Amino acid sequence: ELEFFFPKEQTFALIKPDAAKTHKDEIMKKVKEAGFSISKVKEQALTREMAEQFYKDHKGKPFFEQLVNCMTQGPSVIMVLSKENAVEEWRQLMGPTDPEEAKKTCPESIRAQFAHDILSNAVHGSSNTEHALRSIQLVFGELDAD
Ligand code: PPS
Repeated sequence: ELEFFFPKEQTFALIKPDAAKTHKDEIMKKVKEAGFSISKVKEQALTREMAEQFYKDHKGKPFFEQLVNCMTQGPSVIMVLSKENAVEEWRQLMGPTDPEEAKKTCPESIRAQFAHDILSNAVHGSSNTEHALRSIQLVFGELDAD
């Protein structure tokens, strides 16, 4: 079994509230087509406390309040994705933070296709495995071996 040699990595992925309302099925289709296993999924509106914890590295930036408001305005689709090199591959599938840049450089990416602007940019993904574990624990309250 190849997985013995290439153990799966987990990442934390989230479809933001506005995209969860309008493009959920299309985004889920791209997730599956890219070969991710969806280890966990739930639809839930983030609380203010969760969103602030989530973006604590951005606290003090001019867009912090807007970002927290945007993330708490309705249910998000929150997932744990598994795949070899999942953190990096999910970031590639999302594309650059700013959809204008995404359209130019990664036209097949989720943000190029479904994001409105740098704030409502359709999806979120952890930037490294440590952040991924932190976010998985925050939302799902447990860590998982697979
Ligand atoms: S960083 O500093 O590189 O980690 O920041 P970045 O990954 O580019 O962005 C982090 C999140 O902040 C949001 N963001 C903004 N919102 C509003 N206005 C501006 N100018 C802006 N710049 C960044 C952006 O949506 C990112 O959210 P996530 O959920 O991580 O995509």
